[in-house]
Amino acid sequence: MNTTVKALFESVFGGAAELEGFAPGRVNLIGEHTDYNGGRVFPCALNLGIFCAARKRGDNTLRFYSQNFPDDGIIDFSLGNLRLCNRWTDYPVAVIKTFAAMGYEITHGAELAFCGNLPDGSGLSSSAALEVLTGVMLKGLYGFSVTAQELAVFGQFAENRFIGVNCGIMDQFASAMGKKDCALLLDTATLALEYAPVPQNKAAVVIVNSGVKHSLASSAYNDRRRECETALAQINEVRKTPSLCALTPDEFEALQQTVTDSVCRRRAKHAVYENARVTEAANALKNGDVARFGELMKQSHVSLRDDYEVSCEELDFLAECAWNMENVLGARMTGGGFGGCTVNLVQPGSVDRFMKTIQTEYQKQFGKTPAVYTAQISGGAALLPTDKG
Ligand code: GLA
Repeated sequence: MNTTVKALFESVFGGAAELEGFAPGRVNLIGEHTDYNGGRVFPCALNLGIFCAARKRGDNTLRFYSQNFPDDGIIDFSLGNLRLCNRWTDYPVAVIKTFAAMGYEITHGAELAFCGNLPDGSGLSSSAALEVLTGVMLKGLYGFSVTAQELAVFGQFAENRFIGVNCGIMDQFASAMGKKDCALLLDTATLALEYAPVPQNKAAVVIVNSGVKHSLASSAYNDRRRECETALAQINEVRKTPSLCALTPDEFEALQQTVTDSVCRRRAKHAVYENARVTEAANALKNGDVARFGELMKQSHVSLRDDYEVSCEELDFLAECAWNMENVLGARMTGGGFGGCTVNLVQPGSVDRFMKTIQTEYQKQFGKTPAVYTAQISGGAALLPTDKG
């Protein structure tokens, strides 16, 4: 039971909620911009996320409230007139439309109250968490028989079709399928999943939030995806290739000149090499070689900065600052980029010192103190036990 969301529901809608649920945000350890290129990713679900309390109604009105957007008040829709309106409700509405498109029609209204502790626009997947959580609540309220993997797929569909961001499956998958103390080694070409324990006694996962939010991030994201598609189409003229990440680095080197535009070529290079890094990093972790894992994180950042061009001054500063610190095994930007967070692997005894130093240096450079968190790696989205009393 989560008393905060339960109390929130009672104060907004009156009376008790029927169900409560939680969906986590995620941090990706390595494998960035590979998920829409048929590659592998390596994210973990966090204990930071979004809570919801909900109750069915007898009529056909859907009522939404979020503690994170109190000025919006309660937002009402009738089931026959569900609309996107450039507000936070676009995410749950897009998921409800997706359920309908998949044959899960909602016949009764409901009240849903949300609150969360995931910083918005921080690259820790607050939108994916909201999508997956909406799915969890719909499943619980209306008795739909939908698997956790389907909840992830529906969340991605909602985002692609209705929100207009052509994201891959990583964020929704991590939120729906996360496992305590494990990273998810996900092959996005097949959705084959392996859980990999993260040895937090050897390496603490520390997140540093640059506080930068780029408003053009989603259009730049769609541009990157298009550039990868252009590269793949040209490669396909000389060799049948299902996705960029189906190529090894050697195969790519042999084919790269078929990509005529140098920008598209660099984007493709990033995807291919990043995918190879994920496999190597997962193996290194399995063998307890956290130092090698850290080196691969650094290579990932450099490639995202120079070839994929999705980093920014603040993220580069945070990563470099971490690379120069003793007892830091690795650091890189995480998520889509253009702001958001870095993920750092730090020797457990040095976490406090790392946090203090990075905050001081960032403050000196940019005049603001970044929020820092030690990630608690948690399980995936689920209904919470309700306190009926
Ligand atoms: C965003 C998208 C993901 C993924 C990452 C980059 O988080 O939602 O699907 O593409 O960017 O790795």
